[in-house]
Amino acid sequence: MALTNGFLKQYFVASACALLVVICGCTSYVSNSYTPQRGQSGKDVVWIATQDALVVKMLSAAQVTSQDLVYDLGAGDGIIPITAAKQFGARAVGVEYNEKLATLAQANALRSGVGDKVKIIQGDIFVEDFSKASVVTLYLLEELNAKLRPQILKMQPGTRVVSNTFSMGDWEPDQVIDSYGHTAYLWRVPAQVGGGWTVSGLASDGKSHTLHIHFDQRYQRLSGSMTVDGKKQVLLGARIEGNVLHFSFLNAQDELKHVKAFIDNNQWMGEVVAPYGMVELKLPAQKVTAVRSVNNQ
Ligand SMILES: C[S@@+](CC[C@H](N)C(=O)[O-])C[C@H]1O[C@@H](n2cnc3c(N)ncnc32)[C@H](O)[C@@H]1O
Repeated sequence: MALTNGFLKQYFVASACALLVVICGCTSYVSNSYTPQRGQSGKDVVWIATQDALVVKMLSAAQVTSQDLVYDLGAGDGIIPITAAKQFGARAVGVEYNEKLATLAQANALRSGVGDKVKIIQGDIFVEDFSKASVVTLYLLEELNAKLRPQILKMQPGTRVVSNTFSMGDWEPDQVIDSYGHTAYLWRVPAQVGGGWTVSGLASDGKSHTLHIHFDQRYQRLSGSMTVDGKKQVLLGARIEGNVLHFSFLNAQDELKHVKAFIDNNQWMGEVVAPYGMVELKLPAQKVTAVRSVNNQ
């Protein structure tokens, strides 16, 4: 709430000042005399704007809403933050190193009627803090994405990251977005679940068992094994989507069961759910909880 109030206050003042400049007829150098050239050099990468249709597809794939705070790293003329605010109702911040582009982008936001929702910071993407973003957009280069990746992976699980054209090294995207011959990629920051867990609620034979699960994790991909009374079985289809964990296992009756659970730091809770394709089958809710094992092996 404090962030929202501060943001609105700051941009109400900025918008009012810019409006005054417009009224005084002094904006020509901002709005008209600076025309960026496609391919002009930038600090780490040149300026080329993302095509309008792809901007909309990228923000749609990220399911941007008015609840989101979108950061565009390397904002250019502001097309992504402006669209995020105007068409999706989000608050948006653009970080742009080139001072003239940053000024132009803020003026474009004002002209588009979203000066109160869009803030353009003139700064370096490798210096500015974007950790509060719920959505990050990029149109940089593969190696710059890879450089940002450690920071991105520390963000809130479920944060969406969308990159025009360039991938993220060996972190596979969750979705590929195509638009008239252009491609973008979407990732959801995965919660960290690697290590050992002590689990309750999975046994279906009425007996109390000490049950351990161990996950190995690489980004959103998991492999896991479950040990019940010293007997080990490999978990099937283990994966993580943001802070949602999925895996399947065989119960004491040799039936395939599926677990969907929500991760909250050092614990997760969820239930045994119907297998995919059998949503009409209403199983009695079987609650499952887990905490990180003390030695986390
Ligand atoms: C390919 S353009 C993308 C512009 C915009 N995001 C879009 O998709 O339309 C990359 C932008 O990043 C800016 N840029 C390059 N290095 C930067 C850095 N280290 N910090 C901030 N901006 C940077 C460039 O000036 C350029 O405007």
